[in-house]
Amino acid sequence: MSENQSQVELHKLSYAETIKKIKGLQLFEPSFRILGFVFLTILVTCSFLYFDYGDLGRGFRVSVQSGTFLGLNFNGSSRGVEEKVEFLSENGGSCDVFEGDWVWDESYPLYESRDCSFLDGGFRCSENGRPDLSYTKWRWQPKACNLPRFDAKLMLEKLRNKRLAFVGDSIGRNQWESLLCMLSSAVSNKSNVYEVNGNPITKHKGFLIFKFVDYNCTVEYYRAPFLVSQGRPAANSPSGVRMTLKLDIVDWSCLQWRNADILILNTGHWWNYEKTIRAGSYFQEGSEVKMDMQVDTAYHKALITVVDYIHHEVNTTKTQVFFRTSAPVHYRGGNWKTGGGCHMETLPELDAALNPSDINSSYSALVDALSAHSNTSNENTIEVLYITSMTSRRKDGHSSIYQSNPPSALNRQDCSHWCLPGVPDTWNELLYTLFMKRQAAHSANSSTLYK
Ligand SMILES: *[C@@H]1O[C@H](CO)[C@@H](O)[C@H](O)[C@H]1NC(C)=O
Ligand SMILES: *[C@@H]1O[C@H](CO)[C@@H](O)[C@H](O)[C@H]1NC(C)=O
Ligand SMILES: *[C@@H]1O[C@H](CO)[C@@H](O)[C@H](O)[C@H]1NC(C)=O
Ligand SMILES: *[C@@H]1O[C@H](CO)[C@@H](O)[C@H](O)[C@H]1NC(C)=O
Ligand SMILES: *[C@@H]1O[C@H](CO)[C@@H](O)[C@H](O)[C@H]1NC(C)=O
Ligand SMILES: *[C@@H]1O[C@H](CO)[C@@H](O)[C@H](O)[C@H]1NC(C)=O
Ligand SMILES: *[C@@H]1O[C@H](CO)[C@@H](O)[C@H](O)[C@H]1NC(C)=O
Repeated sequence: MSENQSQVELHKLSYAETIKKIKGLQLFEPSFRILGFVFLTILVTCSFLYFDYGDLGRGFRVSVQSGTFLGLNFNGSSRGVEEKVEFLSENGGSCDVFEGDWVWDESYPLYESRDCSFLDGGFRCSENGRPDLSYTKWRWQPKACNLPRFDAKLMLEKLRNKRLAFVGDSIGRNQWESLLCMLSSAVSNKSNVYEVNGNPITKHKGFLIFKFVDYNCTVEYYRAPFLVSQGRPAANSPSGVRMTLKLDIVDWSCLQWRNADILILNTGHWWNYEKTIRAGSYFQEGSEVKMDMQVDTAYHKALITVVDYIHHEVNTTKTQVFFRTSAPVHYRGGNWKTGGGCHMETLPELDAALNPSDINSSYSALVDALSAHSNTSNENTIEVLYITSMTSRRKDGHSSIYQSNPPSALNRQDCSHWCLPGVPDTWNELLYTLFMKRQAAHSANSSTLYK
């Protein structure tokens, strides 16, 4: 491959496509391995500069000299790919923001964990000794459009006098804490952000409500890992039944969150045999405990209950409802209790969207539950934050052994939760994008969004 060709390719192909091509070359033509490696090294270096420079218009840091590195001319106004439409502009609406690539971006992360007091220790990977920072530097780039740069002040302004609530499991909490950090980065006096009941963030069960006093808004978290109600069984239940999941009743906390202005629901990680039947938690419908019901069936029924509840009990004219899909786990060589790990992962899977079949089936169960209502008057009652596929490529983003300080033993890793800053920040950038889209649709004065 001549140098000329490679220059042309840099301009023609996206980063991921190029990497994929190089990998293909290495695989099929062993004699090209060394050349490929040298080229890959140069390419990666260039690509970092390339994206750096290409995003000139969006307020990113730029090194002017990088444009002539190795004689390559990176022209900021023609990035080698066709100009993309801005998602928030009038004709950006049809873009699928969940289809795209992770691209290196030196302007990330959006905050530092040491500047944010609203984080559990388990997510503070760098402070816990994680040596690399590369996992904080990937930006999500949709294929067909550009996302707006996250603007904490603008989002807080739009949240004035409003309530935003996350409901779900600890991965939902991971995302909630990320949003607290992202938003509070715009508040100079941090004592104007606090938990309204004075509860500490760490190890606290139940719910937590953080108030941003300057904006009279709250960012809340309700722990409800199944989204449906879990409780003691009736006295005459079969032996071995320690708890039941009432598949036809939404979690008790719903009375508190149903009137929020923005709702982000998630569930998934607890719907397995281990965390239900194995633990003595059986499924119940009406007053009957269904001893033979499979987890998949129960999960499906629970989703239908939750979706029905949103349709009937939540005023979706007022409340923007999101359902975030499951985030994949990345244990290699075992699972969480058999010594599986992910602590050696420092790079995303740039060219592949792994889609494990269990996550696929949980996604299709959600699609199924949603489609039962697809012909009611308001089609967009529940917006799906489909983060599963993009997140499956981020095996590098987990807390692994850096879930504690000092780091935990190698056979006790966390490859489910995510380092912060990190991957959940991207989920929140997508949340921000869709929130702003709806704000724009509701406001005649939306032009300020596009500048
Ligand atoms: C950059 O690209 C634009 C549009 O393709 C062109 O008009 C401009 O002259 C280029 N600038 C440089 C320095 O090459
Ligand atoms: C503050 O926000 C709440 C809703 O969260 C609203 O009910 C209340 O009226 C607001 N207070 C002021 C002073 O605007
Ligand atoms: C920050 O806010 C607190 C409570 O509102 C106030 O007592 C304190 O003086 C403020 N600090 C600064 C530096 O403005
Ligand atoms: C739903 O919310 C909208 C907007 O806040 C409000 O105008 C409407 O009255 C509410 N509907 C009900 C049934 O409360
Ligand atoms: C998972 O879903 C994707 C997209 O719908 C599909 O292409 C893929 O074949 C599915 N994988 C499995 C294992 O079902
Ligand atoms: C969906 O549409 C069909 C045909 O228009 C109608 O018969 C059915 O009742 C509708 N279902 C719901 C839940 O509105
Ligand atoms: C737009 O905002 C301006 C001031 O910011 C206000 O005077 C005007 O009434 C607003 N227009 C609409 C349609 O809300």
